[in-house]
Amino acid sequence: MKSSVSISSGQEAPSSFLTKITVLGATGSIGLSTLDIVRQFPQKFQIEALSCKNSTEQLAEQIKEFGPRLACVDSSGQARELQETFPETEFVWGVEGLTQISSDPEVDLVLAGIVGAAGLLPTFSAVQAGKTVAVANKEPLVMAGKLFVQTAKKSGAKLLPTDSEHNAIFQALHNEPTERIARLILTASGGPFRDRPVEEFEQITQAEALDHPNWKMGRKITIDSATMMNKGLEIVEAHWLFNTPVENIDVVLHRESIIHSMVEFVDGSFLAQMGLPDMRVPIAYCLGWPERLPLKIPRLEPISQNALHFESIDPQRFPCLPLSVKAAKQGGGAPAVMNGANEEAVAAFLNEEIRFVEIAKTLASVMRQLDETLQQLETDLPAGTPHFLRDIHSLEDAEHADQWGREQARKVLDQVS
Ligand SMILES: NC(=O)c1ccc[n+]([C@@H]2O[C@H](COP(=O)([O-])OP(=O)(O)OC[C@H]3O[C@@H](n4cnc5c(N)ncnc54)[C@H](OP(=O)(O)O)[C@@H]3O)[C@@H](O)[C@H]2O)c1
Repeated sequence: MKSSVSISSGQEAPSSFLTKITVLGATGSIGLSTLDIVRQFPQKFQIEALSCKNSTEQLAEQIKEFGPRLACVDSSGQARELQETFPETEFVWGVEGLTQISSDPEVDLVLAGIVGAAGLLPTFSAVQAGKTVAVANKEPLVMAGKLFVQTAKKSGAKLLPTDSEHNAIFQALHNEPTERIARLILTASGGPFRDRPVEEFEQITQAEALDHPNWKMGRKITIDSATMMNKGLEIVEAHWLFNTPVENIDVVLHRESIIHSMVEFVDGSFLAQMGLPDMRVPIAYCLGWPERLPLKIPRLEPISQNALHFESIDPQRFPCLPLSVKAAKQGGGAPAVMNGANEEAVAAFLNEEIRFVEIAKTLASVMRQLDETLQQLETDLPAGTPHFLRDIHSLEDAEHADQWGREQARKVLDQVS
């Protein structure tokens, strides 16, 4: 639902509609970029709801500036405290609160910017409610992509690809039918360890892994970029968003992060989208879609780019990539298991429980365990009997597969740490 607003004056053509937005994960890297765009276009956007988990001081600053009608925090205690300071805003909390602000009838667009599997229920409730959903939070799509796509079809929700690579493909495709896609090529910067000798990987520190050469992002995705698991998650995400077989999705290392991804069409044409690495561009494309917003950001100067490089990816250096391609091809519960296990392993690394190389080793071990368990299921359960490791039919299946992956990972991590 869009609401009318009257604009009395201004340089730009007056817009007759204000898009009302919920920002899930407003205090994160994606959330802050989103609010920066809203700040630039007050005549186009209105913040209806904001959420955070624990950064309540930062959220309070955002409430002062944007005056949302709703805000969601982690606990009832945090909500009570903030309610006293901001009587005009209604505070809700926990997963229920997040699903409420995602499906609120007044909201037009939900920006899914929570990190990890925690975004599953709130993002899904936005899709069920038929919202336009700008999907930055890739993990829910990895866990339950088929459900997202099927539910969006039923509810009329629009899934707008906000991850920079998927947004690049979305822009390059420009409504062409997916039958015309020969191949999707996701670009990967290679992260901080693209040139580090593999023999030195045992000594990688947390500070080094968090020091991404091209992008400033939240901690979890920064580690995923260093292991290249991020690209693995993106393959699954692209498979669902663009209805393209995993076999037709490739990854190339592109150290400049200028070309954000490409589409190869059946006629041999390639279309790519390029620009400086700045998440405000894909986010703004989704907020403004189907229009383009005259964004105030530093621009790419092509002449300043001496060269653009494209290289193949060494699977020895980035073992998470082949593991995730296998899980993506396997389908069923495998991507959700992999995602859950990865979240546990990354959290353990960020808590300094394990070394960097142990993230990939943990994943390899969990995915071996998955194969053995699936084989066992063949003998224990008649073929065709539903099981969350075989297929994801519901959100509960996705949550069970995620939990299973986390438990297996925890067993491995407990031994290592
Ligand atoms: N950052 C990027 O450039 C980028 C690019 C492409 C895709 N993405 C994807 O976008 C998502 C967000 O990434 P990010 O880098 O913005 O992460 P981030 O900086 O860590 O921010 C995460 C946001 O989610 C909130 N949050 C964390 N755990 C939560 C939970 N259990 N329940 C409710 N809210 C929770 C955080 O609140 P607190 O601040 O209170 O902890 C914060 O607002 C990820 O899925 C990532 O893969 C990010």
